Amino acid sequence: SGLITLDPGYKNTGATKSAITFLDGEEGILRYRGYRIDELSKKSTFLEVAYLLIYGELPTQSQYDAFTKEITLHTLVHEDIKKILAGFPSNAHPMGVLSSLICSLSAFYPDSLNPNQSEEEVNLSIVRLLAKMPTFAAWAFKNKMGHPVNYPDNSLDYCSNFLKMMFALPAETYEADPIVATALDKLLILHADHEQNCSTSTVRMVGSSQASIYASISAGINALWGPLHGGANQSVIEMLEAIKADGGDAKKYLDKAKDKNDPFRLMGFGHRVYKNFDPRAKIIKQAADEVLSRLGVTDPVLEIAKELEYAALNDQYFIDRKLYPNVDFYSGIIYRALGIPTDMFTVMFALGRLPGWIAQWKEMRENKEPIGRPRQVYVGATERDYVFINKR
Ligand code: CMC
Repeated sequence: SGLITLDPGYKNTGATKSAITFLDGEEGILRYRGYRIDELSKKSTFLEVAYLLIYGELPTQSQYDAFTKEITLHTLVHEDIKKILAGFPSNAHPMGVLSSLICSLSAFYPDSLNPNQSEEEVNLSIVRLLAKMPTFAAWAFKNKMGHPVNYPDNSLDYCSNFLKMMFALPAETYEADPIVATALDKLLILHADHEQNCSTSTVRMVGSSQASIYASISAGINALWGPLHGGANQSVIEMLEAIKADGGDAKKYLDKAKDKNDPFRLMGFGHRVYKNFDPRAKIIKQAADEVLSRLGVTDPVLEIAKELEYAALNDQYFIDRKLYPNVDFYSGIIYRALGIPTDMFTVMFALGRLPGWIAQWKEMRENKEPIGRPRQVYVGATERDYVFINKR
């Protein structure tokens, strides 16, 4: 074990070479395949960014048309999915439902279990994932509400179709508000990839054993669920609500976060790599103001969030540790203004991160990376003899 370097949490260990996403934590730079995140979030669409991440280049018009058409052809899911869904209690967290439904695709498409699938077959799995994930996500919500599910409407764009599956009710006409659909598209772009974070590393790790793409992505969803990762967006709103209910005293919660005897952390603050600012948070903060004002929504927790941010940025504890608001700090406020319920926030993150997971899985596969298998430094008992139970 003398040769083994210990690095818990892989803070300084590179697991792969990657040509997908560039991130400079000191400068707060994030680029997908060389394109700046601020530019993509203004000019591109989520499906175009998905294509870019997965295939490496921005699509031509005909490539884009073929890609989006192919996706609409696969939005329907097998009717038996409804039986799986019906087995979940209505209070099941939608992240668990989503990862289970995604994993079930390996049963509906068992060819995916063959690690030597052709490129064409792999592309079909990729399209299926992008096409069916919004259907599963919306259905997880419908199951929770006890409402009948809505089938996809392929005449609509990616986000409008998702919103319709989420919110349309029988005997009512529903049309997604274009402001809402556009804001959602932008949020998905901002979440689309973030190099070797916990869920992405999980996808690559599971994929490295040649498990199916569906099993690998399902594992990524589970990793994302935790409050230190994607689950932070739900925790942020719950924290802001708690502060509001407790009289709105941001300072009190700041002190709690600084107290080493208190497990409480300021949710939506801090990042493993960004030590200056999170470029996504900057864009999202501005978007939160814009979206709320365009929708005419006032949300008192936005004020609390701003107050908390201001107080933290001027507090020595946070300054010393280079803790800044991350992507999750303001995203929940926008999701809420868009009508998305709190326990669906992390599902929204998963919808956004899907192309990144796919691109990273594909890169791992094409580079023929070895199975992921970290080492350890053993610190347990040395050899000892077995003692029969009556002698212990
Ligand atoms: N509130 C209070 N103290 C904090 C926080 C926080 N949110 N984040 C880090 N610290 C302190 C931490 O206690 C430690 O202090 P000390 O040096 O005195 O022991 C120091 O800052 C360094 O923290 P760390 O835990 O060693 O840093 P890490 O790189 O292991 O963790 C993190 C990064 C994001 C898990 C962490 O900052 C955190 O728990 N933040 C809150 C959860 C959150 O917002 N997660 C979303 C991350 S961004 C998007 C995503 O991945 O989904």
